[in-house]
Parts: sequence; structure tokens; C-alpha cells
Amino acid sequence: MIVAVDGPAAAGKGTLAKRLAEHFGLDYLDTGSLYRAVGMAVLRSGGDPSDAAAAERAARQLDPAGLCDPALRGEQAGDAASKVAAIPAVRTALLDFQRSYAARPSGAVLDGRDIGTVVCPQADVKLFITASLERRAERRLKELLDKGVSAIGERVLQEMRDRDARDSARSVAPLVPAADAVLLDTSELDADAAFAAAVRIISQRRRAD
Ligand code: CDP
Repeated sequence: MIVAVDGPAAAGKGTLAKRLAEHFGLDYLDTGSLYRAVGMAVLRSGGDPSDAAAAERAARQLDPAGLCDPALRGEQAGDAASKVAAIPAVRTALLDFQRSYAARPSGAVLDGRDIGTVVCPQADVKLFITASLERRAERRLKELLDKGVSAIGERVLQEMRDRDARDSARSVAPLVPAADAVLLDTSELDADAAFAAAVRIISQRRRAD
């Protein structure tokens, strides 16, 4: 079984996708970490994440062993990620890795922006997780403060608005729900309620097949 979990930043995709993978006994890939790793690699080499040649080079040299680096979770990496993610050659370079991961015999949950539309259009279940901009910014702020990172609410909100705009407006693989995705709005749901709703959707889909 392949489960695609797409949606904007801080909608609760990561937490949800990880729990779903555990629950259904599937492997889990956070595809955002690939773009974050590429963005950070460009920054660390002193480059500009919007520079197509530098970003493509970093994507081709990406070592999946480095995907657990905690620095990838910061806002600087998220911002650089959304810049390299708008470069078509970067997306192409990362596609094979994602598709091979999805094709594992054990099945997989992949979360990102274009899993249901581009990476795995044949996924068995597609979830599109959303929440209002304000709720997402609140969650991201709390996440940062909990990690001891100093952050200002206004700034987090503005950065999220910019990232949403960049992800939705880009010409390649923009952030849009697949036609056959099930929408789940988590604005008023906590992590447990979102998980229960997603399990229900997946179980219904499986029964229908
Ligand atoms: O955790 P959060 O939702 O903030 O971000 P993420 O999922 O780690 O993704 C970081 C950035 O990578 C996004 O803003 C997208 O620009 C890009 N991305 C993408 O274009 N396609 C994916 N499949 C995953 C991430």
C-alpha cells in the first residue's frame, strides 16, 4: 500500500504520516527533508538556493544518510527548501529516489507537496491535509519555542505566507490536491483526532477496493 500525504507547511502532515506508517506497518519518507537537505547544502557551500545550477548539483550529490540532521528542521532550511523546490532540475533529480522508496515491497507513506500528483499518482490513498494559515503559524511558533529556538509570531506568520505563495505559484509540481485526494482540515483537530480521521479514511478506501 502507498499512502500519499500532501499539504502546506505545519498542517500536521509529518506527525500524521509517521503515525499512519507505524499503524499500518509501512515505511515512512518525509520528502520535505530531501528539499531541505538540498537547500542547506547550497547555503553551506556559500551559494544561493535560487541558483539553478548550484541547486541541481546539490540535488544530484544528495546523500540520504544526512537526512536526520536536526539543522534541517529549522526555518532557514525550510525557506531554502522552498527556493530549490521551485527549480525543475532539482525536482527531477529527486524523483527516482522518492519513487524507488514508494515501490518498496513493504509499502510506504510519503509526505510532501506533490506525492499524490507527481511522485505517486497511482497511490492507493491520497490525503490532502490543510489548516488555516493562522493555526499553522501558531503551531510552527509553538514547535520552535518548544525546541528553544527564539521566534516571533508575526515573522513566523509572514514566512509561512511567503512559503505558501511560493509553493502554490511555482510552475512545476505546485501545491494542489490531486483530483482523487481526500481533504482533511485539521484547524480544529488535535493530533489524535486528525490521526483517527485519517485511519477512518484509509480503512474505508481499502474496503472499497
Ligand atoms: O515541515 P514543513 O511542512 O514546513 O515543510 P517540508 O514538508 O519539510 O517542506 C519544505 C519545503 O520543501 C516546502 O515548502 C516545499 O517548497 C518543498 N517540498 C516540495 O516542493 N515538494 C515536496 N514533496 C516536499 C517539500
